[in-house]
Amino acid sequence: MHRFHTMGRKFFLFTVVSFFILFCLPLMAPKAGQATPPKAPKTALVLAYFGSTMTEEANPVALIQESIARKHPEVPVLVAFTSAHVTRVLQQRGQDAKMLPEVLAALSTQGVTHVAVQSLHITPGLEFESMGTIAQRFANLPKGIQRISIGAPLLGAEEDVAPVAAALLASLPPQRTPQEAAVFVGHGAAGPGGLAYPALQAALWTESPLTFVGTLEGASTSSPKTIIAALKAKKVTTVWLAPLLGTVGDHARNDIFGSGAESWATQLTAAGFTVRPHTVGLFALPQVATRFTSHATAALQALENQ
Ligand code: CO
Repeated sequence: MHRFHTMGRKFFLFTVVSFFILFCLPLMAPKAGQATPPKAPKTALVLAYFGSTMTEEANPVALIQESIARKHPEVPVLVAFTSAHVTRVLQQRGQDAKMLPEVLAALSTQGVTHVAVQSLHITPGLEFESMGTIAQRFANLPKGIQRISIGAPLLGAEEDVAPVAAALLASLPPQRTPQEAAVFVGHGAAGPGGLAYPALQAALWTESPLTFVGTLEGASTSSPKTIIAALKAKKVTTVWLAPLLGTVGDHARNDIFGSGAESWATQLTAAGFTVRPHTVGLFALPQVATRFTSHATAALQALENQ
């Protein structure tokens, strides 16, 4: 009985070793240019933006998230914040808020190989650039994400300008008469991203001469002083004031509509205009969601072509 067992074990070992040499070793030999066999791609899309602690909506980017999910039902669409402060405050309120590196690290451990990071910035300014730098650090990791693509901000290219101008004009309330002006106030950007604002202004003027683009920072051509002078030159009496910002958050509430001496509302009122606040953020406009969706589609296509 014991003897038979030993014989059997020897024969078994011989068979296993032979099988290994015959079939497995040739498979293990590295082929030229193909160190590890490529995994089947697993794709996700992350919407990345500064975030806000002051919005009325629980998820201010829901319209954009739903629009992209409808167009790409096979791709999970997640939200990530770039502001540590906003993330911390939202977490303290019990929200499941995460910063961009945390979301990308989690996707990496879940076996996601391809990630499109869609910017929800308005212009290609410094915040957009630093978001891209952070996201690219997660590409080409040996065991994690292989490919990262970046979706352009709202005013990322020349072809975005006319549709965004049309979206802004369509967003104005029907009570506005043709003699009444509209001023859209954006954040402003110091770098080349700031050029998006005069481009948008030019596009607005081709459709509606009494619409203006102002900024909180940046070029003097979009400062309250310049815009007030332009409004006076056009003999305007009533001004619809609207944010050129994603959400009606801190900047909109304080720097545009606030009661402080420096706010746009205060300065326009002091200059003699009747100010009508139009407190709708860009993320709530359907045409803006459509624009971000087409940028997300391009970012997903870029993942395939990398
Ligand atoms: Co700011």
